Amino acid sequence: TQPLRVAIAGLGTVGAGVIRLIDANGELIARRAGRPIEVVAVSARDRAKDRGVDIARFAWVDDPVALGRHEGADVVVELIGGSDGPALALARSSFAAGKSFVTANKAMIAHHGLELARAAEDADVALKFEAAVAGGVPVIKGLREGAAANEIARVYGILNGTCNFILSRMEAEGRDFADVLAEAQAKGFAEADPSFDIDGVDAAHKLSILASLAFGTSPAFGDVAITGIRHVIAADIAEAAALGYRVRLLGLAEAGAGGLFQRVHPHLVPIDHPLAHVTGATNAVVAEGNFVGRLLFQGAGAGDGPTASAVVADLIDIARGEFGPAYAMPSASLAAQPPADPGER
Ligand code: NDP
Ligand code: HSE
Repeated sequence: TQPLRVAIAGLGTVGAGVIRLIDANGELIARRAGRPIEVVAVSARDRAKDRGVDIARFAWVDDPVALGRHEGADVVVELIGGSDGPALALARSSFAAGKSFVTANKAMIAHHGLELARAAEDADVALKFEAAVAGGVPVIKGLREGAAANEIARVYGILNGTCNFILSRMEAEGRDFADVLAEAQAKGFAEADPSFDIDGVDAAHKLSILASLAFGTSPAFGDVAITGIRHVIAADIAEAAALGYRVRLLGLAEAGAGGLFQRVHPHLVPIDHPLAHVTGATNAVVAEGNFVGRLLFQGAGAGDGPTASAVVADLIDIARGEFGPAYAMPSASLAAQPPADPGER
């Protein structure tokens, strides 16, 4: 059997994690995928950096965008990040070369998901992004496949591991915001620019992807009302606790009479609600379907192992020839509505 040959752009937290996972579980992955999954080429900024994994066995390509044209690869995995720049150029070059494409990049999918899905369909290859929402939690598959027979009324939850880590550690340990953020960065949970986490932008990227899947629309990131946790202080958390609540950053998308409404902001969650008990970098997503009822998807939302697990699950699908839909579950389209207060972005 022919191996599935993989080129990886980006060898940071997630990229190095993917190599470690394939090294550790290669045999069982080959059995489940029906053929081996082999990394053949890699790219990042600094060839000499110690990444804790041996990359000397792979072809090194200086320009990550050139990986899209790498002749020895069947699939390209993009783990650089950023909505545009080299990540987007690489996606386009991969589809132009007829290669399937796997990414953990929610910023790029939130901004360019539709264009990329069309390019994948035109090239008759796969576009997969399970790792882009809720890290290791299979919520894209869960919505697309598990809830495929349902009308979804609402989808909401804890979508950013860094913010949940900060809020729950501040509450449980009385620690300072900046101190816990530094720990989240050291653990590899935060974005390269952590303001994307604490200002709610990363959660909004993920919410717009979930909403587009749940409601059969294009991702409408520009219509998400966004408030982050930058201004949450210890006294807010203590006061909430005294009243029987916990502070959590939630994203919520729901279909209303006027269309699709999407918002991300800190919420007071009653202590007896399951989301109040989600701590650390865990994510939890609730989807309410008209026949299945309330589904809860929960697990590690950030970090190398969980995120690599979702990336490699996508590669296994591709190795099996299961490309799935490039993007949405088609349905009657709802128009995404801008925030009521245009200052709220
Ligand atoms: P890191 O910052 O740890 O790694 C980014 C990698 O991209 C590095 O290897 C870096 O190279 C490389 N890179 C950056 N800019 C360029 C460039 N211009 N040209 C070539 N290579 C470049 O990021 P993460 O691994 O944390 O995240 C990767 C992606 O996964 C992002 O889209 C992120 O949002 C997403 N994600 C991350 C999760 C996490 O828990 N960390 C969870 C879910 C998704 P070098 O190492 O040489 O500097
Ligand atoms: N920075 C993101 C988070 C990574 O903290 O949730 C996972 O998408």
